[in-house]
Amino acid sequence: MSNRRTFAIISHPDAGKTTLTEKLLLQGGAIHLAGEVKARGAARRARSDWMKIEQQRGISVTSSVMTFEKANPDGSVITFNLLDTPGHEDFSEDTYRTLTAVDSAIMVIDAAKGIEPQTRKLFEVCRLRSVPIITFVNKVDREGRSVFETLDEVADALALDVVPMSWPIGMGGEFRGVLDFATDTISRPEGDSREFLGLREPPADIPAEIAEEIELAQAGYGEFDPVAYRHGDMTPVYFGSALKNFGVAELIDAIAKYAPPPRPQPSEQGTIEPSGKEVTGFIFKVQANMDPQHRDRIAFMRLVSGTFKRGMKLTPSALGKPVAIHSPILFFAQDRAIADTAEPGDIVGIPNHGTLRVGDTLSESNKVRFTGLPNFAPEILRRVALKDPTKTKQLRKALDDLSEEGVIQVFYPEIGGQWIVGVVGQLQLDVLISRLEAEYKVEAVLEAAPFDTARWLKGPDAALKQFADFNKSNLAKDRDGDPVFMARSAWDVSYQQEKNPDLVFSATKER
Ligand code: G4P
Repeated sequence: MSNRRTFAIISHPDAGKTTLTEKLLLQGGAIHLAGEVKARGAARRARSDWMKIEQQRGISVTSSVMTFEKANPDGSVITFNLLDTPGHEDFSEDTYRTLTAVDSAIMVIDAAKGIEPQTRKLFEVCRLRSVPIITFVNKVDREGRSVFETLDEVADALALDVVPMSWPIGMGGEFRGVLDFATDTISRPEGDSREFLGLREPPADIPAEIAEEIELAQAGYGEFDPVAYRHGDMTPVYFGSALKNFGVAELIDAIAKYAPPPRPQPSEQGTIEPSGKEVTGFIFKVQANMDPQHRDRIAFMRLVSGTFKRGMKLTPSALGKPVAIHSPILFFAQDRAIADTAEPGDIVGIPNHGTLRVGDTLSESNKVRFTGLPNFAPEILRRVALKDPTKTKQLRKALDDLSEEGVIQVFYPEIGGQWIVGVVGQLQLDVLISRLEAEYKVEAVLEAAPFDTARWLKGPDAALKQFADFNKSNLAKDRDGDPVFMARSAWDVSYQQEKNPDLVFSATKER
């Protein structure tokens, strides 16, 4: 297990996450040519189709999992499980889920642009989950801000100590490479025989003013402390250019050397150690239609303990009875491969037809329940608009009745007069409209609601009141008058929950 590194790359869009991912895979030997992630033969169609969607939209839609290996000088092999995360803000919930399944993260920052508000939010999530962060300042081959400025900004945004582990030798047109402090060499991509940015060899001498900067920095920022990093109190900062392949080998070495191996996970039954014999894991993501030709649905399980073997029986907590996992999938960079075994820290894809849900625990004994995992119930919320505004009273009665029956759930927002209905499936909405007409003589239409999910609020009065004061536009009452938090996303719920530990945000309500 100590040779597993399960990590995510997070960044705002355009910082260079895709480019860096490709270069990491390239250096890890998982692909052989830059651009290969895009260029695929027919044999690789399944995955490249999936990626095509991402390319067409210009954003990364899904979290993909890629596994690659790298040999250490001593012959031991490190297995890297890289979990890509979408950078688009609409998909922050996805990012949040992915962060529950990793042991560390690489934060990519654009040297020229610095830290954007969205990236600050990601930092915050990492801190909430105590995910240690390695910072990679990308695009130093472009004209950027001063290195000191960037370091200060990172320290400020993370509220962490920063330690530069390398230093760019010039930026923009003056860029000549990256000096790695550990080896005191200027990095050059492995096996790369290109001209060194106009020079035949890496520059022998570092320009005087940069040498001075480096001296200042090394004195000013202190030593890197691996323990402080793993505790989430310090972030090592690496500089580089993903596009030009500078600083990438150093980054891989850093993950191998410093990033934590698979961590224990909290459960209702106490902490589950990765060295435990029983096979346990949890579902952090479900992805439908990854392969358009097979209409498949794959649940991603993070293995927490035990050695998983193909065909073994595990009990999903929500199902309560064991199922045999016959076709587990490990995600290698180029292909899907049938996994025979998997170790703690590995991600296993499990094809299924809806039996596995996000937040489920899988185990041999069915006695373990992992905690701290967001469980997102599928919900559809719609605003109800009347065709005839004089029928408000009838509509209210109808909605109260139908919610009592369980046809729908109804929410009356504190601000504004537009009522919101919540359902689990589209069919319920069709039923609602036809029954409103037939039974209540009310003609209504359903419109998109500005909310995505709802949670019943419970907690001490003072905490409830304080929360209500700050979140009026997101508050509603259900038909019994109980307070409900209307969230823009499930991520929003998790975020508020962590910020308001005295309140319970419940996805269900006892009837
Ligand atoms: P993302 O996944 O984080 O959204 O970023 P992506 O890797 O797609 O990179 C965004 C843009 O930044 C791309 O340019 C990419 O080539 C460029 N880029 C990435 N790393 C570096 C770097 O180290 N230096 C420089 N100078 N540029 C970098 P694009 O023009 O938007 O796309 P493309 O035409 O290159 O595909």
